[in-house]
This record gives sequence, C-alpha cells and structure tokens, in this order.
Amino acid sequence: MKKIIIINGPNLNLLGEREINVYGDESLDDIKKKSIKKCDDLDIKCFFCQSNNEGEIINFIQSVNSKYDGLIINPAAFTHTSVALLDALRTIDKPKIEIHLSNIYKREEYRKKSITSEGVDGIISGFGFLSYILAIEAIDKLIYKK
Ligand code: DQA
Repeated sequence: MKKIIIINGPNLNLLGEREINVYGDESLDDIKKKSIKKCDDLDIKCFFCQSNNEGEIINFIQSVNSKYDGLIINPAAFTHTSVALLDALRTIDKPKIEIHLSNIYKREEYRKKSITSEGVDGIISGFGFLSYILAIEAIDKLIYKK
C-alpha cells in the first residue's frame, strides 16, 4: 500500500473559527476526515499532520524520502517567507504538491509570492477543502504515473 503525508502549517489548527469568510467553516479535523476517506478510496495510507513550528514541519518533510511515496503540503504563512522549507522540499525526490484553501493570487500582494512552490511539482490553490481532495487525486496519478 502506498503512503503519503499531508502536512499543514501554522494556524491551520484554527480552521473553522479563523477568518471563516476566507477559509470556510470546516475544521482541520473535518478536512482530515475527508482526506483520509479519499485516500482510503484510492487505497492509499495517509498521515495527516499539523504544526505551528517551522522546524517540526522541516522534520516532517525530511522524513518523506525514507517513509512516504508522496507529499502534500499546505505551508500556510510559511509559503511566503520560508527559504528553509523550500530547501527541505528541494531534497525530496517523491511527488510533491503544494495546496492552499484560498486562491493566494487573488489576495494581498504579500501572499502572491510562494517561495515554497519552487520546491514542488505543482500547486492547487483556491478550492477550499477540495484543494486537498484534488491534490490526493493528483498525487495518486503521479505516484502510479497514471
Ligand atoms: C493558506 C494561505 C496563506 O497565505 C495563509 O497564510 C494561510 C492559509 C491557504 O490555505 O489558503 O494560513 O495557505
């Protein structure tokens, strides 16, 4: 069975109560359940995690080459600031996708630049929780080269 990791960055633990007009009213736990269901349907084992700590996220990324077949990451605000996350992502030789609930290109100027996206295969941004589901479908195809 293939294994993927879905990594969530800072403040995403507050989904459902934080800026509902931007991010929707679903909690991270709701999104986790939907993501795991989608992975189950595709026969993929999924480790879904969140951290507010940049170093911990880097440790999650560094575990990918030895433990997982693919990575999906919502780096949240670190998207726009973290060369450290980019450097970590560049070391991963498995399929990797960056996702965002909101369309970062339709928001404030400082959100329009994604530093981390230079280290992934592609981005899905702007579809709410569906960004997660679409990314799982895409990573399944990338892993199996469908
Ligand atoms: C986000 C977009 C980021 O700009 C923001 O800092 C987040 C969430 C999204 O999923 O839309 O925390 O990554």
